[in-house]
Amino acid sequence: MDIGIFTPIGNNGWLLSENAPQYMPTFDLNRQIVQRAEHYGFDFALSMIKLRGFGGKTEFWEHNLESFTLMAGLAAVTSRIQLFATVATLTIPPAIVARMASTIDSISNGRFGVNLVTGWQKPEYEQMGLWPGDAFFGTRYQYLAEYAQVLRELWATGTSDFKGEHFSMTDCRVSPRPQADMKLICAGQSEAGMAFSAQYADYNFCFGKGVNTPTAFAPTADALVNACAKTGRTVTACVLFMIIAADTDEAAHARWEHIKAGADQEAIAWLGEKGAADKGSDSNLRQMANPTSAVNINMGTLVGSYQHVAKMLDEVATVPGVQGVMLTFDDFVQGIEDFGTRIQPLMRSRQHIDVAEVA
Ligand SMILES: Cc1cc2nc3c(=O)[nH]c(=O)nc-3n(C[C@H](O)[C@H](O)[C@H](O)COP(=O)(O)O)c2cc1C
Repeated sequence: MDIGIFTPIGNNGWLLSENAPQYMPTFDLNRQIVQRAEHYGFDFALSMIKLRGFGGKTEFWEHNLESFTLMAGLAAVTSRIQLFATVATLTIPPAIVARMASTIDSISNGRFGVNLVTGWQKPEYEQMGLWPGDAFFGTRYQYLAEYAQVLRELWATGTSDFKGEHFSMTDCRVSPRPQADMKLICAGQSEAGMAFSAQYADYNFCFGKGVNTPTAFAPTADALVNACAKTGRTVTACVLFMIIAADTDEAAHARWEHIKAGADQEAIAWLGEKGAADKGSDSNLRQMANPTSAVNINMGTLVGSYQHVAKMLDEVATVPGVQGVMLTFDDFVQGIEDFGTRIQPLMRSRQHIDVAEVA
């Protein structure tokens, strides 16, 4: 099973809590995390794009670096790990993104790919005059389908004459083309998002869902398999989890309870309101502020001793269609070290990794 890191491009990572580590996103922090991840044989690092935060006492995600420029910097200081940047597709035309990706492909020697997001949080786009109107909630994956076709054409052939409802290319050119097959990620979970992934993406990322329920996402992986049956393409699932690990189950749970006790209710209320804005869809977005685990947007959380977490991660690997997991930690720097030295060596699904060899 592949292991990735969801690198903290925004302040405080993925914890909306006054009792979690409070930190700003910097290049140095992300470099340290991704270089240590590479040292421990992680397969990939992904950074998200977030253009407006949720407020609250912790100013959650009010501070965010830009995804492509961050990954370009990281590409220059790593040598093996795959890197993915995220594009908010309402903000940058596909022909520019195709060229940005070609540039990072060159910096990284073929280790780069792109995560495509439609955008679900209207204030991110409204603040810069780029929100097309609420009807976009219903058409966003049609827009993304055109966007992906332009990217694919430009990367495959260097030219595009694509004519659609949203994009019109006239002998549009991109050169140099990427040296490696450019992989596309989509994390759409709605029916339209899954159908898009099955048609255009290489990987579909999903939320792990629940606390200490490593296979709760299985129906989502199954939905992807069904969507792919219709397109005849192979698209594999990657599952997002937060790891809270310690020497003992008790110590890990105590840390988790402490984090939850400091939940930033104001930021969570914003998340609940904005996540519910797409009223017509079966999207998972309104689940993010569910009280079960709103403190980390209900991403799926594995809490326990190093041994217990290793066992739960091995369970994830048993679900059909799973390519890998993408991890976050309450403390990324310590978390990567603990994962590399205490968790990964216990995982059956990572026995192929020899850290001494990859270091
Ligand atoms: C791993 C992961 C990464 C995501 N990254 C971003 C991101 O960087 N920016 C963003 O606006 N949305 C991001 N999303 C949200 C998804 O793109 C998607 O909108 C969401 O999962 C809901 O699915 P739907 O769009 O089909 O309703 C991410 C979701 C997941 C699970």
